[in-house]
Amino acid sequence: MTTTVKKVPIPRNGVDYRGKVVLAPMVRSGECPSRLLALKYGADLVWGPETIDKALIGTTRRVNAVTGTIDFTRLSSNGAKNPAINPEQRESVIYRLHPEREGKRLIYQIGTANPETAVQAAKLVARDVAGIDVNAGCPKPFSTSGGMGAALLKTPEKLCSILRTLVTEVGEPNEIGISVKIRILDTAAETETLVRSLCATGITGLTVHCRTTPMRPRERAIRDQLNMVANVCRETGVACLMNGDVTSREEAVELISEFGCDGAMIATAAETNPSIFRSKAAGGLAEWEEVVKEYVKTAMEVENRWGNTKYLLGQMIPGKNKAYKAMTHTKSYCDLVKALDYGEDFLAMARTVDKALEIGEYEKAKMTKAERKAANKMAKNADDKEIASDAQQELTKTAAGIKRSAEIAQLDMPPDVARDRGPASVPGQASTLAV
Ligand SMILES: Cc1cc2nc3c(=O)[nH]c(=O)nc-3n(C[C@H](O)[C@H](O)[C@H](O)COP(=O)(O)O)c2cc1C
Repeated sequence: MTTTVKKVPIPRNGVDYRGKVVLAPMVRSGECPSRLLALKYGADLVWGPETIDKALIGTTRRVNAVTGTIDFTRLSSNGAKNPAINPEQRESVIYRLHPEREGKRLIYQIGTANPETAVQAAKLVARDVAGIDVNAGCPKPFSTSGGMGAALLKTPEKLCSILRTLVTEVGEPNEIGISVKIRILDTAAETETLVRSLCATGITGLTVHCRTTPMRPRERAIRDQLNMVANVCRETGVACLMNGDVTSREEAVELISEFGCDGAMIATAAETNPSIFRSKAAGGLAEWEEVVKEYVKTAMEVENRWGNTKYLLGQMIPGKNKAYKAMTHTKSYCDLVKALDYGEDFLAMARTVDKALEIGEYEKAKMTKAERKAANKMAKNADDKEIASDAQQELTKTAAGIKRSAEIAQLDMPPDVARDRGPASVPGQASTLAV
């Protein structure tokens, strides 16, 4: 007798999570070049960093002919009250993806506590990604106090309503999948009830991070609820990814089979060395020197924001190696490729990128306080009050988005992260840091 495995249908533009070993969503560590590198080394799918709905709403979708990316951008203020007449006005990249190289292997992870804003944001990216994943696992107070992340585990009706609304208003019309990432609850019975209701919302996938909300990353993942979660998902036809302390493709394959899951998701091990996605048969783990050089090349190709590149290199280069110290003293791609002795081809590329990003020797003089004051005065007196008011509203929204990014970044990262939210060049605009 043959048993048929129930499977919710995978929409035409979506992707089945079954049989996949994937890159986890990671704020700051999951920006475009990190995802491209994970894919190069064999990740089957990649999750983008959690981006909250309100940060994306109001952005403009731009095709970036220089980098081949699609950028979701908004005007940054650089401290001026009216960005519209601010000479330092820049476009900040809130989200950047590479359609050719990520294509339908990218899942957008949304931070949200509201079905309406979730839909508004998800609609903006829906045609460029293979799926939308709702973050229901972030334990930090800035997220939970807004009702997002792990707070959604305590308001399952709200979480289900967000998922159902995304399924009908974004997933179905765009023919992509909607999924959710959760943590386990204190007891298997509580987790089971939650997973059953989530699986009834029309989602195509569910990732379970095998830690409870209060557990810290260094605490070992608990796997005793995993088999139950996988069984509930199988019964309902939803693909189940396991997450927590998976460190290689081989280990992922073993754990998938041991616990009856459909796939596995890897975060911290991939942050340090994305070649963990490469099977032993295909070459296995690469030396950090090779991976770092590839990362620098990829970061330059997509003109990744310098602060983000430097942060990632801090994760990838062993702290005791002299290259680590050399890297920490660099202030631009040119500095970096010289410090790491990458040769002329890299240097030529670095010059182009530094110029586009206006860093290193291409850094422009900043406005003085007096100049900024004068610009603000101009804004105040501007005849077109409407423009000023629109710009002010934009500015307020931008500031909110950036504040959140900075807060998220503080989760796991050094203080310079506050400047994070986007690499640089946008066609027709000068490139810059986001803040
Ligand atoms: C730097 C960093 C950023 C993270 N950002 C997110 C995020 O944006 N969304 C999310 O759901 N989880 C996020 N996480 C949690 C991971 O996706 C993952 O669930 C967790 O690290 C456990 O996997 P691991 O044991 O393989 O590290 C982040 C983790 C790290 C280390």
